[in-house]
Amino acid sequence: MTATRDAGAGRPELAAYAAATGLPRRLRGLLCLDDFEAAARRHLPRPLFGYIAGAAETNRSYLDNRLQFDDYAFVPHVMADVSRRTTETTLFGRRYRMPFGIAPVGISAISAYRGDIVLAQAAQAAGVPAVMSGTSLIRMEEVAAAAPGTWFQAYLPGDDSKLDGLIARVAQAGFQTLVVTVDLPVWANRENNVRTGFSMPLRPSLRLAWDGLVRPRWLLGTFARTLLRHGMPHFENSFATRGAPMFSVSALRDTTGREHLNWAHIRRIRRQWQGPLVVKGILHPRDAQAALDCGADGIVVSNHGGRQLDGAVAPLRVLPRIVDAVGGRATVMMDGGVRRGADVLKAVALGAACVFAGRPFMYAAAVGGREGVDHALKLLGDEVSRNLAMLGLDSLDALSPDCLQARPR
Ligand code: FNR
Repeated sequence: MTATRDAGAGRPELAAYAAATGLPRRLRGLLCLDDFEAAARRHLPRPLFGYIAGAAETNRSYLDNRLQFDDYAFVPHVMADVSRRTTETTLFGRRYRMPFGIAPVGISAISAYRGDIVLAQAAQAAGVPAVMSGTSLIRMEEVAAAAPGTWFQAYLPGDDSKLDGLIARVAQAGFQTLVVTVDLPVWANRENNVRTGFSMPLRPSLRLAWDGLVRPRWLLGTFARTLLRHGMPHFENSFATRGAPMFSVSALRDTTGREHLNWAHIRRIRRQWQGPLVVKGILHPRDAQAALDCGADGIVVSNHGGRQLDGAVAPLRVLPRIVDAVGGRATVMMDGGVRRGADVLKAVALGAACVFAGRPFMYAAAVGGREGVDHALKLLGDEVSRNLAMLGLDSLDALSPDCLQARPR
């Protein structure tokens, strides 16, 4: 279903729901994660919406990330007393209320006021993990203080001394779990960014100004408010020290020079990083094995939401092989296309300890700030709990491939 601007207009069932929820007006018609996309499209300037929504080249991987969940159907049990069911999961010794979390999303504070903090605090309140992006515009120290327990995601600087400095800073800031994203040796070809006028660095132009003017709630509530209260956004967390301003050409230089990175860099980080180390962006079982050999505690099976190699396999399709290769020696997680409780449970049934979603929570933060993300997390959590009941299971441990039937292709 698509989101309605004014919940319940001409739809009595929605009006009743809206009144019962006590949600702010702008969130009332949003009944599932997909609904946030349409709301964000109306709220954000075209280049910013396009940056979040877009993927690489033909969108093959992006689209397949949704279709992958259709490979399986549930085979539920009935009459199983699910009244005491729990959706809890343990990751790196910590208990979480749900087996899903918020994926790292770059430059979130330009689409949502104080985006990184909003996302991290909402996740903390809901008892789920959130991963702060290293390509972010709020100092990591502020986010760690505002929401202790948040995970930090790093893109590796190409040079070793900068790499060591960044890792030392992340530890000093108080993060315990480090996620290193490894599927970005070069920037992908994201033609859609060119078409919508998004660039990194953002180049001021008449078109950009016009795109902002026609979205006054974003212009005043996010952009102007950020500039007035916090000054020009900088890339704050790419290195040990502050990076370039968002509207500067050196911003581009700061995000290149990663082509030579290899597993030795992960081993180098492992020697330095004391806490759980997660490698994000694995699709090949041999790479899962390599990450383990380097001492990783966890991996995220991911094609970067279809934003890197177009045509890269959808993560759920390789998840069973990777779970097999890992053989219980590390925590296997997954992201890409997760929009429903049913998606979460299918991934868990195939061996994921947790899944992450990126775009939906970013849309929620843009449209509704903290309340928006709270609402999105609750919608997904309710779906997980409800579906677990209808599967006739009382815990995630009871989920296994036996609960699924592969659909013939
Ligand atoms: C991302 N992703 C990402 N990943 C990462 O490791 N560091 C980052 O800074 C970003 N930035 C980023 C920005 C935006 C706008 C999007 C949509 C995604 C990828 C992200 O963590 C995750 O892998 C995907 O978003 C998962 O796919 P879905 O849930 O968006 O379908």
